[in-house]
Order: sequence, then structure tokens, then C-alpha cells
Amino acid sequence: MEGLTKEGEGVIEDTDAGTPARNLGIIMASQKVEHYEISAYAGLIKLAGKLGLDNVAGILSEILAEEQESDQILAGIADNDIAAESNKHN
Ligand SMILES: [Fe+2]
Repeated sequence: MEGLTKEGEGVIEDTDAGTPARNLGIIMASQKVEHYEISAYAGLIKLAGKLGLDNVAGILSEILAEEQESDQILAGIADNDIAAESNKHN
């Protein structure tokens, strides 16, 4: 996770403010964090299930759904808002 955070900081260092490269780079870095979290929660849900901790698995499943929703929101921003802004400059 620390490496992903540094990668995101690198995007900011290497790009100019307000450019599609920076905005999409930040979205990409953010989605990498979400994907990391999704993988972690998916694994923990399986573990909780194996241990018979159904209540815990249920709570983790709710969090997983939130992480997946965050990922979709970020993807939507990249596809719609930033892509549209990028097309204005082409
Ligand atoms: Fe998240």
C-alpha cells in the first residue's frame, strides 16, 4: 500500500496540474488502491467463511461492496469526465 501511495505521488510530481495525464494518473493510482483493498477483503471473506464466522464474512462483504462501488465511481470519472475533458484538447 505504501508503494501504491508513492506511485500516486510520483504521478503528481511528473505531471502538470489540470492535465488529463495527471487527472487520469491520479484515478489510476486510486483504482490500484481500491483493487488492493478488493483483493484483501475478498480473501478475508473466504477466510471468515472457512472459520465459520458468517457474521464477520457478512460485514466484510458489505465493505467489499463499498470498495467495488468506489472503483466503479473512479472508472466512471475516468471514462466520462476526464475523457471528455481530454477530447476538448484534441
Ligand atoms: Fe477503498
